[in-house]
Amino acid sequence: MRMVDLIEKKRNGHEHTKEEIDFIINGYTEDSIPEYQISAWAMSIYFQGMTEGETAHLTNAIVHSGETIDLSEINGIKVDKHSTGGVGDTTTLVLAPLVASVGVPVAKMSGRGLGHTGGTIDKLEAISGFNVEITNEEFIKLVNKNQVAVIGQTDNLTPADKKLYGLRDVTATVNSIPLIASSIMSKKLASGANAIVLDVKTGAGAFMKDLTETKKLAQSMVRIGNNLGRKTAAIISDMSQPLGFAVGNALEVREAIDTLQGKGPNDLTELCLTLGSHMVLLAEKAPTLEEARTLLQDAISSGKALQHFKTFIEAQSGDPSYVDNPEKLPTASFKIDVKAIKSGYVAAIEADKIGTAAMLLGAGRATKTSMIDLAVGIELRKKTGDKVSKDDSLATIHANKENVQEIIEMIRASYTLAEQSVSLAPLIYDVITE
Ligand code: URA
Ligand code: CA
Repeated sequence: MRMVDLIEKKRNGHEHTKEEIDFIINGYTEDSIPEYQISAWAMSIYFQGMTEGETAHLTNAIVHSGETIDLSEINGIKVDKHSTGGVGDTTTLVLAPLVASVGVPVAKMSGRGLGHTGGTIDKLEAISGFNVEITNEEFIKLVNKNQVAVIGQTDNLTPADKKLYGLRDVTATVNSIPLIASSIMSKKLASGANAIVLDVKTGAGAFMKDLTETKKLAQSMVRIGNNLGRKTAAIISDMSQPLGFAVGNALEVREAIDTLQGKGPNDLTELCLTLGSHMVLLAEKAPTLEEARTLLQDAISSGKALQHFKTFIEAQSGDPSYVDNPEKLPTASFKIDVKAIKSGYVAAIEADKIGTAAMLLGAGRATKTSMIDLAVGIELRKKTGDKVSKDDSLATIHANKENVQEIIEMIRASYTLAEQSVSLAPLIYDVITE
């Protein structure tokens, strides 16, 4: 096989065989196919697309470009949850102990990464002592014992995706549904779960802004999962404003505790119950979605979910007393309100800008080596649809520096105030299971 012929084949709109895709991904991983040929090939895919079969073969080839995690020693159906990324998305912190408390095994591999706030691991480290540097054996033992554990990501998963994603980033080929779907799903499949629930975000704060395109992406990912033998469901959820009120690491831990106690923000609670019900259903811990939801609601109202969060923290050397005493979490030195300069109704909150403001405060990493400050962040006081009077606080900044004028302006500018109340976007747009 010659790469130039395969580029031409895709450029002319023809379908690759499995052998051709394996040849390309293996060759790229081993450096026998140069980046300029892969760039041309990615651009051909951008214009010509891929069939469902090709997309599944591509995902499979990426999965096998590196190490895969074997979770077979964990009892039961392991269900993973993945979010395509939003602002102030506290769902993993809530869902891991919540679904574990009703018997769903959650073997969570999580990263730190770049972004508006830290990753799940950074957030958990706001709890004194919490340790994710555990061995694979310890990890498996803990999931079998408590149904939940979190471990840091290994570096050897899906090396072909690392190279390809980096290359796409500089060749204007990120925005291709088969390339995005295979990139995301390869990482999920390599991490070993038997079933996958995807939270695919749509709206101004998501990387997919258009609902029709978001549905296509969700459909493509669900088909990849199902074609490769993992039951997969996708929930399309709104990211036209941040989720919940808290955007920041310790602030989000506190929000997760509130939610596990049944007094969290409505949108975060509803999204967690929806995603969680699908996880429970796929794990076969309830026969219907309605019964799955009831199980989860009971776990929250009885205190079982909160107790499970403590068990999970203690098992990974964290101090469980933080759950009953969240004031022990790191707090920032300055709390500064962002006041409304006029009255009205909140028509929109640009999630991206709120996320960038949180990062500028130090809640997230701008580069891989940036230090993050677990205490800082933003607490929204008003969300879309809320009535605002002049001088009301729109949001509270938690900062460890006194001069945050630029950030105040940024947050104020992210709010659009209208004279009349606006109709709210739905939180859940669609559920895709096939
Ligand atoms: N996230 C990924 O992991 N891959 C993509 O291609 C796009 C978003
Ligand atoms: Ca939040």
